[in-house]
Amino acid sequence: MTMVNPYADAPVPPRSYLLPDGRRLLVRRIDADDLTLERAFLSRLDAEGRAYRFLGLIKGTDENVARELTAVEPEREVSLIALIGDEGAETEVGVARYRAYGAGDSADCAVTVDPAWRRGGIGGRLLQRLVEVAQERGVRRLFAADGVHGAVAHRFAERYGFRCCADPDDPAAAIFERDLA
Ligand SMILES: CC(C)(COP(=O)(O)OP(=O)(O)OC[C@H]1O[C@@H](n2cnc3c(N)ncnc32)[C@H](O)[C@@H]1OP(=O)(O)O)[C@@H](O)C(=O)NCCC(=O)NCCS
Repeated sequence: MTMVNPYADAPVPPRSYLLPDGRRLLVRRIDADDLTLERAFLSRLDAEGRAYRFLGLIKGTDENVARELTAVEPEREVSLIALIGDEGAETEVGVARYRAYGAGDSADCAVTVDPAWRRGGIGGRLLQRLVEVAQERGVRRLFAADGVHGAVAHRFAERYGFRCCADPDDPAAAIFERDLA
């Protein structure tokens, strides 16, 4: 069944944030012109970061991966890119993405930051912006189901109000979820 999403064409205004180190971070929607930035970002990710970037999808490792990740399905996905540096010379330092299911009120989400830029406040700003955009688009529940492994991911999720629940499909696994008011 095709999901009818009244928000599919709604704009996602860019946001600028001042990081604790004094740098400016721009967070905006990813688009097809970001292919070069995205390719470079993927090449810098560690295995864990790659897993989250792909949001649980099985992806190949060829040239088409960056293309797929910059071609978001507007009906059910929002993908945000975090950039540092002057226009025309930016570096992609992080991404956040959600993909909605069913009627569009529940969405799987993931955040990934370049390993060299972690612990600088980028992941938190990306997640907060993703939450705002999801709320504006009628998402009522965000979850991270694809094996939120490791203490860092747990701390990060809990810091932003996600609670750890049993996965109904896999008793050995956990889901992090957050209700959006
Ligand atoms: C998790 C991840 C996105 C965090 O990004 P980041 O830019 O380093 O996060 P921030 O600097 O904004 O930190 C936000 C909060 O997360 C928690 N956190 C982040 N890194 C942490 C670490 N290494 N140890 C403990 N807590 C950590 C803290 O509560 C932190 O708040 P604080 O700085 O006030 O203490 C990043 O480590 C990453 O990309 N990891 C690989 C992919 C992943 O695990 N994604 C998360 C699940 S979707």
